[in-house]
Amino acid sequence: MEMSVQQLVTAWVAGAFAAAFPGRDEAVAACGASPTSNAEFGDFQSNDCMRLAKLLHRPPRAVAEAFLAAAGNPPFAGRIEVAGPGFINITLDDAWLAETLGRFGADTRLAVPESGTGRTVVMDYGSPNITKPLHIGHLRSHNIGSALDRLYRRLGYRVVADNHLGDWGTQFGITIMGFRLFGDEARMRDSPLEELERVYVKSYEKGKQDEAWLARCREELVKLQSGDPESLALWEMFTKFSLDELDRVYRRLGVRYDIVRGESYYRDKLLPMLNLLAERGLTRVSEGATVVDLDAEGLPLCIVRKSDGGFNYATSDLATAASRQEEFHPERIVYVTDERQQLHFKQVFAICRRLGLDVRMDHVWFGLMRLPDATFSTREGNVIKLDALLDKAEELALGLVRTSSPGMDEAQQRAVARAVGIGAVKYVDLSQNPQSLVTFTWEKALSMEGNSGPYLQYAYARIASVRDKYAERFPGADPDAAPIRLTDPIERALAVRLVRFPEVVVAAAESYKPSMVADYLVGLAQLYSNFYQNLPFLKAEEGVRESRVRLCGVVARVLREGLELLGIEPLERI
Ligand code: ARG
Repeated sequence: MEMSVQQLVTAWVAGAFAAAFPGRDEAVAACGASPTSNAEFGDFQSNDCMRLAKLLHRPPRAVAEAFLAAAGNPPFAGRIEVAGPGFINITLDDAWLAETLGRFGADTRLAVPESGTGRTVVMDYGSPNITKPLHIGHLRSHNIGSALDRLYRRLGYRVVADNHLGDWGTQFGITIMGFRLFGDEARMRDSPLEELERVYVKSYEKGKQDEAWLARCREELVKLQSGDPESLALWEMFTKFSLDELDRVYRRLGVRYDIVRGESYYRDKLLPMLNLLAERGLTRVSEGATVVDLDAEGLPLCIVRKSDGGFNYATSDLATAASRQEEFHPERIVYVTDERQQLHFKQVFAICRRLGLDVRMDHVWFGLMRLPDATFSTREGNVIKLDALLDKAEELALGLVRTSSPGMDEAQQRAVARAVGIGAVKYVDLSQNPQSLVTFTWEKALSMEGNSGPYLQYAYARIASVRDKYAERFPGADPDAAPIRLTDPIERALAVRLVRFPEVVVAAAESYKPSMVADYLVGLAQLYSNFYQNLPFLKAEEGVRESRVRLCGVVARVLREGLELLGIEPLERI
């Protein structure tokens, strides 16, 4: 299947306006149609008449008449109407819709375009600072990033997912000093990351009162960064512990990367980057530090080398961007971090532009996630560990599963609870616009009433059971061989929503909002439950029955794919 329904309608609308107003290419170029939110106005609507009326100095109604004359009557348009001041309402033809849905359901790609073929995107997400356990503040970058990663892969892009670990920054000076003074061997053996975090916090606290200590931490960092063997050995040990621990949590979360490099990978590229900036005349020295002025961009100056000779976060990201560009030739580099890094990325992107780096760079920032009664600043040490959150999610989900499937054996109940619990946590995050603040509550995460991961997983599992029942009652019959018939407005609404799937995937990827997929899926599940509760399936007459069961199959496929895009496991049985 080549074009999505919206593309088809949009191309037709644009073509008709172009034919109606020859020579006005610029004015008609942006014409198109978008889905209506209310079926009263048909399935698609165009409000271009009002816009064109102004440009062409004609009454909107006259523009609409000209459109209608040029539009003809393509097979997909059942009804074309002009409403109000000049809205064009388009209702799809029922028979065409049924046939299109049949093809859509049989298409292996569910009509999702392969617009990314031959194009590369580097995605930088997760990217935690190591030597401490992951806490709930780390969740969003991993979740949103890996959902975007899947969305782009789904569109055929080559995605290079890079976990850009913070493994070369300031925290190492503090941690190494803390380890030397407060380190406890036994604890280090038992739970290395907790111990590293503990000594970090103690060292950090000490630095708050003790200037000399802070100075030694800074010296320690410079020592490490200039390759002192003893510091490097400690660094390697800390890094190894961290990576093992990350692997374990990533398996739990279903997050995977193509490369895991970290800032340390670029350490030998920092000085060359500084030299390049200087060569291009972009730097000046200010109070002993090397800075780049960004007045032209309306941004504060950016320090690229501190007065103590150390490089910083910006230098590291400049070297990283240049290296990625050279190695992968991506069309875009996408960074997913919390909102506090907006200025940092504006500065880095501005400097990259000045260096002439030929790549689109986007910062996808998100608001914090928090529990209603908890903060999680690492420095203060009072954080909710991600592991603890996931444990609790699985435990609560197990309660749900025991109630819904008392007959299931224990091992399977646990496996299902794992998928439901982790899915519930991810869904709370992904169902919100990334840029809003998320307050995490268990009621929301595990609600069975709608807009939750478990709700979607249950909806999916219920559909599977309809198909099973049909197979039991009509052994050997293949509902997918029967034509789809849209005999009821509920079925029609479901069909219109189903064929929108490809557009949603494209829009969610383009606007970096996995929440668009979540919204779409919830709407679909609600329509489905309306369908399921109000129309007979197995008791319907032959033909209608097969069509309904087949429709169930298409809903199931779309739900499955949508859940997978969000990183939530679809379950056949709950
Ligand atoms: N390590 C950083 C942090 O924990 C995030 C890194 C994001 N990626 C980047 N290339 N700067 O805040």
